[in-house]
Amino acid sequence: MSRKITIAIDGWSSCGKSTLAKQLAKELNYIYVDSGAMYRAVTLYFLRNHIDWTNEEEVIAALSDIHLAFKPNSKTGGADMYLNDENVEYVIRDLVVAEKVSEVAAIKAVRSFAVEQQQQMGAGKGIIMDGRDIGTTVFPDAELKIFMTADNAVRVARRFKELYEKNPNVTIEEVKANLEMRDYIDSHREVSPLQQAEDAIVIDNSDITPEQQLQLALKYVKTKQTEQNASV
Ligand code: DC
Repeated sequence: MSRKITIAIDGWSSCGKSTLAKQLAKELNYIYVDSGAMYRAVTLYFLRNHIDWTNEEEVIAALSDIHLAFKPNSKTGGADMYLNDENVEYVIRDLVVAEKVSEVAAIKAVRSFAVEQQQQMGAGKGIIMDGRDIGTTVFPDAELKIFMTADNAVRVARRFKELYEKNPNVTIEEVKANLEMRDYIDSHREVSPLQQAEDAIVIDNSDITPEQQLQLALKYVKTKQTEQNASV
């Protein structure tokens, strides 16, 4: 049997990171962790409780009241995000949260709070985590790092479709503006900005199907597993 490895998937918003991560987790029987869901849940808590996130003390006090957990969802076969025992998996995908999450995710204390828990989840390997800083900060020693990218127009169309299904009032302009704003903040923040790790493999999925993307990634996984086995 192959030794379990850690797979880090980073990239821009709406590049299909979670689609690939879920496909791989199923195929390899690995744990999938959507690290963005954690930043979204913290943002939801801050919004609901009117936390002034420009105030460090207020942020630190609020974080001590937040308990995050991923719990399995038997219907989807994946895991849902729970914020203080409430299933928030659906509500954190809302545009109201998306509009603020990059600001919240740029806060140092919030990042330390999330990264520490993410590192604990990955301690046993056999994990696939997607996000913005997984290959650079959370798991710098991950055996396989994938950096995903896709054309802007493709990304906007994908995110629009996703949001439109939930809310037909959403406009393509709104979605485009939100993606551009998040990409800018995520890649320009001081702490752990979105960056391609030096040893990451790039997958551009603008013109490939999810199945082709999976097969490509599986090839990389096999190569890394073979290297791992050879090094024992
Ligand atoms: O992947 P996502 O769209 O659900 O992520 C939501 C936001 O959280 C995104 O704007 C960037 C931020 N994020 C981050 O800063 N670091 C991560 N590891 C994951 C997400």
